[in-house]
Amino acid sequence: MALRRSKFPRDAVHHPLFARVYARLSVAADLRGGVAAYREELLAGLSGRVIEIGAGNGLNFAHYPSAVSEVVAIEPERSLRRLAAQAALDADVPVDVVPGAAEALPVKGEAYDAAVVSLVLCSVRNLPRALAEISRVLRPGGELRFFEHGIGESRSLVVTQRALDRTVWPLLFGGCHTARDPLAAIAAAGFGIERHRRLSVPKKGLRLPSSPCVLGVARKPGTF
Ligand SMILES: C[S@@+](CC[C@H](N)C(=O)[O-])C[C@H]1O[C@@H](n2cnc3c(N)ncnc32)[C@H](O)[C@@H]1O
Repeated sequence: MALRRSKFPRDAVHHPLFARVYARLSVAADLRGGVAAYREELLAGLSGRVIEIGAGNGLNFAHYPSAVSEVVAIEPERSLRRLAAQAALDADVPVDVVPGAAEALPVKGEAYDAAVVSLVLCSVRNLPRALAEISRVLRPGGELRFFEHGIGESRSLVVTQRALDRTVWPLLFGGCHTARDPLAAIAAAGFGIERHRRLSVPKKGLRLPSSPCVLGVARKPGTF
């Protein structure tokens, strides 16, 4: 693994309460909210060297295909990182869990065939900078796989999302924002969007401000 020094502190994100709640809710959402199937779809067909940003408790790890030779999983929150390190032990592919933040990835440039973000772009402090970093570490022509929640399609939902983002939502949910537009941000960072589809999480039942999601593939320009 090609590591480099990061300007971000080891524990750049400190949300111990959220981390504890997320560790439980995310497992339930995978099993009962249909999220495990989206993780499978997100990662299908990947191969080579992969960097996953904001790996949380490592729920993606079990879904990496065997053609993936190595995953470097960046996670800034200490307790989630510990859970991710445990999940890495059970993964079928080699996974290294590493402290760091999306805005200053502690790895060398153009070192990865693919980058993965799932439910993370809502929480990074500086979205354009995080995406610029992802572009830096991908080889030319490398893929960005994304599964992110974001801005809703109805005006009333967007008004609610913006109000929540200005008030309680980031405080309650570890810095998360509901009204970001991940697809537009990925395109603005210079990636070509190859395919995407909109979906709602959870699949059935209560619709939350974080329900509108987008899952897809973007590509860094250039050929390898
Ligand atoms: C909702 S959780 C999603 C975790 C995991 N990707 C998943 O799919 O379950 C958001 C994650 O983003 C991480 N995060 C927050 N700010 C970050 C940053 N600046 N850089 C990288 N990860 C960050 C959090 O620590 C947390 O693990």
